[in-house]
Amino acid sequence: MKSLFWRISATFMVLLLVLGVAYIWITKDSADRYFQEATQRLNSSIAQHMVDHIQPIRNGEVDTTGLSDLMHSMMIINPDVEVYLLDTEGKILSHVAPYKKVKLTEVRLGPINQFLETKELKACILGDDPRKPGRTKVFSAAEIRENNQLVGYAYVILVSEDYDSAMSFVWGNYILRVGIISFLVTLLAALVIGLALIYFITKNLNRIVATVKRFKEGDMHARMPADSGAELQELATTFNEMADTLVKNIDELKAVENLRRELIANVSHDLRTPLAIMRGYVETLIMKDDSLGSEERQRYLNTVMASNHKLEKMVGDLFELSKLEAKQVTPVIEPFFIVELVQDITQKYKMLAGEKGIEISLSQSAELPMVLADIALVERVLQNLLDNAIKFTPSGGKVTISLAAGERGVEIKVSDTGKGIAAEDLPYVFDRYHQANKAGREAKVGAGLGLAIVKKILEIHNSTIEISSKLQQGTSFRFHLPAYEA
Ligand SMILES: Nc1ncnc2c1ncn2[C@@H]1O[C@H](COP(=O)(O)OP(=O)(O)O)[C@@H](O)[C@H]1O
Ligand SMILES: [Mg+2]
Repeated sequence: MKSLFWRISATFMVLLLVLGVAYIWITKDSADRYFQEATQRLNSSIAQHMVDHIQPIRNGEVDTTGLSDLMHSMMIINPDVEVYLLDTEGKILSHVAPYKKVKLTEVRLGPINQFLETKELKACILGDDPRKPGRTKVFSAAEIRENNQLVGYAYVILVSEDYDSAMSFVWGNYILRVGIISFLVTLLAALVIGLALIYFITKNLNRIVATVKRFKEGDMHARMPADSGAELQELATTFNEMADTLVKNIDELKAVENLRRELIANVSHDLRTPLAIMRGYVETLIMKDDSLGSEERQRYLNTVMASNHKLEKMVGDLFELSKLEAKQVTPVIEPFFIVELVQDITQKYKMLAGEKGIEISLSQSAELPMVLADIALVERVLQNLLDNAIKFTPSGGKVTISLAAGERGVEIKVSDTGKGIAAEDLPYVFDRYHQANKAGREAKVGAGLGLAIVKKILEIHNSTIEISSKLQQGTSFRFHLPAYEA
């Protein structure tokens, strides 16, 4: 993470440097241009004045004396001026450039003609510098005529070597110097502030990365500090929320996993009982085959058969519940008349109830809408509830199924006058297997999966089941199914 600070800082510094160089270069360049332009504009007529004042070419001859006289007086005013006399082709006939070497023998006429044709100078025109081949300079020029005949040109270079270096010009200029110095100071301040900011941001980043690392390495309680810096606060908050969600999900998964393990442990324990019974009786049958009377043999076989039934039901329930829990059951939701279903089931249970001396009855309010649900699953719910009601109600008791239209659709209630459930057991009846160990109680009777299945099926229907019970008085289960609105 150290390297991040240095990387960002280096980038930032390079950026500032480029900016600074660009600024100075632009300043230099524009100052240079301005200076040249101003010089050329101010001195544009200097060559013409000279030609007017002295006739530099007389009868085809160069008037050297007049020229050098003029040059000297001009040099007093401006020592940078260099004067050249050219013939009509641009060849240098003579020059007055004291103490300086002239290297070219001729200059291009193009810029000179351009200069002469231009009435009002807009941008500077650059001509060849005879002392420096390849370089150009601002100049003034004028035609020299004799008897109305063009005999040559006066060519005056306006800026000398001294100002060639724009930098020296810029430094020679107080305003520009102050401008550049204040720019450099600003740049420096920006650098310092920028580096400080980068430092603080990366410092906060470092803390964030450290937290993420701790989390990655298994410290699930690692959270971002509350003051992670304005920009990073959102990142920190998001991370914290994500971590919370992750931890919550992991906890949930662990809980589910624990429940599953308990369920398997409890169920396999319960599966062993009927298996052991079957094994015992079958062994007896095999060993005492000769000595057993037919009645006894019949009794043994019936016991084996009953255990087998129990086992079958347990395995069936277990299979059903695990399918429901794994969400492998897709309900087929359709409208149907709940009354018809309940009537059918009641009819089927009449016999079983009658055998036990229990009266089973159906009560319904006058107008009932159709319900929207999976008919087969609802049938399983009613079966399980009725199984329990009959199982836990003694002879002479009553089991009632009531149907009523309610706010949430159709309310279905299965109540009995049986032995009831103790208040402390109530919270565990729907997942007795899951909770049995935690509550420290043993499974008493039955497979104990029926109500868990009921609860799951109703969950799939976005419904819940409520229970109310009083010991020795009876129990009632209540749930609702959504009404179908055509
Ligand atoms: N109608 C009821 N009356 C009294 N106890 C009940 C009733 N329904 C359920 N229970 C209690 O809830 C437990 C769980 O029921 P259930 O899940 O159907 O399993 P099982 O019927 O196999 O015991 C039962 O063992 C019983 O103790
Ligand atoms: Mg049951």
